[in-house]
Amino acid sequence: MQLDKLLHGGDYNPEQWLDRPDILAQDVELMEKAHVNVVTLGVFSWSTIEPQEGEFHLDWLADIIHNLYAHGISTILATPSAARPAWLAQKYPEVRRVRGDRVRELYNRRQNHCYTSPIYREKVAIIDRKLAERFGDDPAVILWHIGNEFGGECHCELCQNAFRAWLQKRYGSLDALNKAWNATFWSHNYTEWSQIESPAPHGENAVQGLALDWKRFVSYQSIDFYKWERDCVRELAPKAEFTVNMMYRFNDINYFDFAKEIDVASWDNYPTWHKPTETIEETALDTAMMHDLYYSLKGKPFLMMESSPSFTNWQPVSKQKRPGIAELSALQAVAHGSDSVCYFQWRASRGAEEKLHGAVVGHDGREDARPFRETAEVGETLEQMAFVADTRRVKQAAIVHDWENKWALEGSCGPRNCGLGYWKELACHYNALARRGITVDFVNQESDLTGYGLVIVPMQYLLRNEFAQALCDYTAQGGTVVVTYWTGVVDESDLCYLGDTPYGLTDLLGLRREEIDALYDGETCHCAATDDGAMEADGSILCEVAALNDTDPATPLMLYAEDYYAGCPAVAVHAFGKGQAYYLASRFNADFYNDFYAQVCEKAGMQPAWPEQLPAGVLATRRGDFVFMQNCNDHSVDIDGVELEKYSTRLVQLEPVDEDDES
Ligand code: GLA
Ligand code: ZN
Repeated sequence: MQLDKLLHGGDYNPEQWLDRPDILAQDVELMEKAHVNVVTLGVFSWSTIEPQEGEFHLDWLADIIHNLYAHGISTILATPSAARPAWLAQKYPEVRRVRGDRVRELYNRRQNHCYTSPIYREKVAIIDRKLAERFGDDPAVILWHIGNEFGGECHCELCQNAFRAWLQKRYGSLDALNKAWNATFWSHNYTEWSQIESPAPHGENAVQGLALDWKRFVSYQSIDFYKWERDCVRELAPKAEFTVNMMYRFNDINYFDFAKEIDVASWDNYPTWHKPTETIEETALDTAMMHDLYYSLKGKPFLMMESSPSFTNWQPVSKQKRPGIAELSALQAVAHGSDSVCYFQWRASRGAEEKLHGAVVGHDGREDARPFRETAEVGETLEQMAFVADTRRVKQAAIVHDWENKWALEGSCGPRNCGLGYWKELACHYNALARRGITVDFVNQESDLTGYGLVIVPMQYLLRNEFAQALCDYTAQGGTVVVTYWTGVVDESDLCYLGDTPYGLTDLLGLRREEIDALYDGETCHCAATDDGAMEADGSILCEVAALNDTDPATPLMLYAEDYYAGCPAVAVHAFGKGQAYYLASRFNADFYNDFYAQVCEKAGMQPAWPEQLPAGVLATRRGDFVFMQNCNDHSVDIDGVELEKYSTRLVQLEPVDEDDES
């Protein structure tokens, strides 16, 4: 999908208003006023399209699609598989999920079908083909949106059998499986495939290799269901392009795998702005990290598929966005590589769970209401920024975020069962870089590291042999890596590496792990500077104790200054080939990362988005040759003698740079 404009619009549910032609007419009128150029239709339309088994009604949808198109509004067309009609759930119980405790769900809510059920797949194929037949070639439909927010798992017998077949393919024999799971432990060796069951609260949960493989299987099966739908549509609509709307830090599907199967990445963005414990800048950074993740999935512009123009109704406290935040948040998405600002939802529904969720048009239907006015202003601004569409970002730093690693890391017992704060660790690195205006991508263990000036490897507990090698090669050729504590502990089967660790990285880092110590919440370990490094910080969460290699050791830049590991390296650097490898033995306070990355980035020759120091709370983000400066403060600031108002954004175009100058 190549866009020559930024998309602006969102989820539209006209099926809830078919008996109100006046409202449907007002929708089009208001969409034009709000500078809407796209809507997402059909996400939850199954029971309107197929009210009885085999009885299809598509004319209403065609009318709406074409009427909108006549007014310059395109459609992202969803398949309705995320929510099924009651008749289907009643007639075919197998489509309803079985929970971990082996109880089959009653008909309820949405996004809870069995991904394996052949009947569900067949029913979905029928309706998807109807849609593809009718709209596959329609110029009004610019993108296909499969289902909605894929997630969850099913433990029915069909899924158990599919899991066993998946394991059989992965391991070939029970012997190999027992080895990979170290099943001799507690005498758990399996002698028949049928003995294997998915993890359950009242069943197996101690064989961590099994738990990890179940997570892999659930991810695989979810993506397989998506592929089934995509291929049904594609058969009749060969030119169609596909997306799925992803979610924030969603854990259960390996989005890097999912991304291989879609054409455009998209995600639903609902930050909790105005939390008393967070500044606007901190919330913005948390959101920015996710935008960067979704850009990275395909290495190209993504879509912000949903966001609220005002507030949600599902957060613990659903606060209103203060005036100006809607624009700040919309332009932030664009700054990080989104080609759209889309909302959930266009018009507030009258009843059921989301009746009190924010919408562009509220129950009063007024265009002078704040969400509508602010949305219209955003739409106008996006029209003026059309030239940003399709712009790629520069490659600077990469943070490794690998789903399999996270599953294994968090699925293990010890060293801190009260929480490892995986995302907090990533944010430590991300925030420091983003505050400096460095473009950050996320990569996994399959990614190509070429072109990055800096690669950060936080808590890469599950480290594949090949990736350890790739990190060494990357550094030898002149790259800079930062490797943290609790890296290189287990292999891809979650089996502990034998011998020195971090596995495969001891030569690279010039040291080896001897111990890992866990700290209670609030506990810290003070660290002091060495002659080679002017850093000082407090370690927390985990303190890794490392010994320098006898030959070609690392140079410590900071040492633990407390406890029995006083004098051991807390931060170290080691020259490796043409590059540099840094080692961080603990999680330090935020200031540490700002100073640390200031030095590392300078040494690695990485240019910040904006050359001068910006006032605190102003974030500069580069997208291609554009720099977006966003003021997250609730007061205006002065940049180069020009005032930047509170929550506002300034867009600056850089002189085009020679690609070779970028590192
Ligand atoms: C998700 C869903 C939408 C809606 C919104 C509410 O993102 O995809 O259907 O429920 O949440 O915030
Ligand atoms: Zn199932």
